[in-house]
Amino acid sequence: MKYVYIIVSLVLAAAPAMAQTPVYLDETRPVGERIEDALGRMTLEEKIAVIHARSKFSSPGVARLGIPEIWTTDGPHGIRPEVLWDEWDQAGWTNDSCVAFPALTCLAATWDEEMAALYGKSLGEEARYRKKDMVLGPGVNIYRTPLNGRNFEYMGEDPYLSARMVVPYIRGVQSNGVATCVKHFALNNHETNRHNTNVIVDDRTLYEIYLPAFKAAVQEGGTWAIMGSYNLYKDRHCCHNAHTLNDILRGEWGFDGVVVSDWGGTHDTDQAIHDGLDMEFGSWTDGLKGGYRNAYDSYYLAYPYLERIRSGEVGTEELDEKVRRVLRLMYRTVMDRNRPLGSMCSEAHYAAARRIGGEGIVLLKNDGGVLPVDMDHARKILVVGENAVKMMTVGGGSSSLKVQREISPLEGIRERAGEGVSVVYERGYVGDVTGEYNGVTTGQDLSESRSADQLIADAVEQARDADYVIFVGGLNKSAHQDCEDSDRVSLGLPYGQDKVIEALAAVNDRLVVVNISGNAVSMPWVSDVPAIVQAWYIGSEAGHAIADVLSGDVNPSGKLPFTFPARLEDVPAHIFGEYTGVPSRDTVDIEYKDGIYVGYRWTDLQKKTRPLFAFGHGLSYTTFEYGEPVLDKTLMSRDGSVTVSVVVTNTGTREGQEVVQMYVGDRKSSLPRPLKELKGFEKIRLAPGESRTVSFTVGTDDLSFFDPDRHEWVAEPGKFDIYIAAASDDVRGKVTFELE
Ligand code: GLC
Repeated sequence: MKYVYIIVSLVLAAAPAMAQTPVYLDETRPVGERIEDALGRMTLEEKIAVIHARSKFSSPGVARLGIPEIWTTDGPHGIRPEVLWDEWDQAGWTNDSCVAFPALTCLAATWDEEMAALYGKSLGEEARYRKKDMVLGPGVNIYRTPLNGRNFEYMGEDPYLSARMVVPYIRGVQSNGVATCVKHFALNNHETNRHNTNVIVDDRTLYEIYLPAFKAAVQEGGTWAIMGSYNLYKDRHCCHNAHTLNDILRGEWGFDGVVVSDWGGTHDTDQAIHDGLDMEFGSWTDGLKGGYRNAYDSYYLAYPYLERIRSGEVGTEELDEKVRRVLRLMYRTVMDRNRPLGSMCSEAHYAAARRIGGEGIVLLKNDGGVLPVDMDHARKILVVGENAVKMMTVGGGSSSLKVQREISPLEGIRERAGEGVSVVYERGYVGDVTGEYNGVTTGQDLSESRSADQLIADAVEQARDADYVIFVGGLNKSAHQDCEDSDRVSLGLPYGQDKVIEALAAVNDRLVVVNISGNAVSMPWVSDVPAIVQAWYIGSEAGHAIADVLSGDVNPSGKLPFTFPARLEDVPAHIFGEYTGVPSRDTVDIEYKDGIYVGYRWTDLQKKTRPLFAFGHGLSYTTFEYGEPVLDKTLMSRDGSVTVSVVVTNTGTREGQEVVQMYVGDRKSSLPRPLKELKGFEKIRLAPGESRTVSFTVGTDDLSFFDPDRHEWVAEPGKFDIYIAAASDDVRGKVTFELE
């Protein structure tokens, strides 16, 4: 009996310890408590460890406590292949080929928030399946100059469009328990001197143009991470910039996530401690040499920080605050046992990529109804251009991918045309015959022995008796052709493409130019070519999406997310400046003298110069008629709103989608304002003959401008115009009301 008593008392004594799950592991407890409990258990060294990288793309967990490490990955368009521990080069895995989704300019061009949600969910599933906890994207830097090498990764010139499109993307990715890391915060609007450009911009421009998409990402998207940008602002690097990170991001917007440096964007320990950085990645050490025991220990937030604490020079308050944020990221990701499991290279993902591509392609011009191409009855279709065959998913910088498959435009056209149609291919020009990035090779042999003239002669010869000629050109994500760390050097198409296009136009009047790019290009031949299509870097399903639209299987519904200027001299960043393409080793001040007049905000005010194609422009294979817009009231109270409604009818013979755009203009204001600014859009699908009423509610927020002196948004009483438009230069109706 005595022994039974002893055993029972021992078990009872042990029971609480056995049953008592530590708070930081107890999923029934609020995350805040779990964070504090974990923080209280961590040693100083463990705290220092979790705030900086331990490999090229990962940061440590707390192994002793069973808290997993965090794995980050590029990029915004697909999940980057595995790299070596300390290198950019490939790890040589064979299970990391992915689906390449369309570049974000294409997503923006869909003007469809559902597409953004589908995109984010699909990308997040691929990240989750690859066991990545943070996607380094999306990028939402505003398109200020058509020379910016990374515009293809971003969502265009308008802060409202970028804001609306980034929110569902973030929610989609994070629904998988994977963090987005919205970048590059802030004012990273060109690539030349990206590490040493000090941007000078007035507050009004900052708040009205360059911040809104980031603010929406934080306050509506709820992004769990933000990436600081390489450049400087107010003479401080943006990866540790008290004004942008502490005052604005946290102070004004209430951001509760982590601030991650760009790779190599950290430059100073004291600033990194005090001015807003939480996680340091990619500092210029390769983890193999230099520094202390290993280079990651010599990171700015590593040993140097530890020494400052041990010497008493700094306390641990800032460290604890950083670690709290990192722990919150962990509980949102690696510590969440209920995260979905993800999926990769699924037919659903290919279908999503194809659908987004088809919704983003923009029909710029279609005179004489050359498009759609009759791919069922044509006898001969000639396809010309290197971009019809060149893989585009490799290259362009950190968003480069290793895909499971990529359908080229030529493959897509051939597949769609089928056996009965002769689809002939001619190179037309030679662009970039390389095909490798960080050890990922396309495997293509694009070598060509013919001269430029011979290539043109051969293409022209084939064009003479073709029913259609489809020229597929543009840029190609090689250096200076839409590529990270290298801006373009001119607005024109490279590799002599203009000459090829002119030669083809001279011999065949059913010429279609398909421009593949993430930036505007000049088109000196625009009046000689009956049909022009803007096809973005669409990724794995490029050929299918392009053939879907060219054949008419999909009715194009994309709208331009940025202006196509006729000449670089028409762009305010190049008129007033400052933009300099001159590399420098010193800090280069670049003043955004164009101010708020970016894109259509500028072209609307010009009488002489007109853009080649305007922001919001995009045609369809059907036609839409807009009724007169109607207001529910003409006097709006300060805390009220007005609702404008318009009936849109499909007056054509086939189903189509239209993006109805709503802009607001302030008749009279104490500060200069653009003629109109985008404040609403809705994409609707209409059958032939079908009508739909589209309504927009306008509140004081939509009427406000940022008053830098009062440091707040102001809606001044007076008259306002509401423009209902099919494009920024295609207003279909206008109504006026008064704000009391
Ligand atoms: C790059 C880019 C950033 C990317 C990071 C990691 O330099 O600026 O967008 O996510 O480094 O590759």
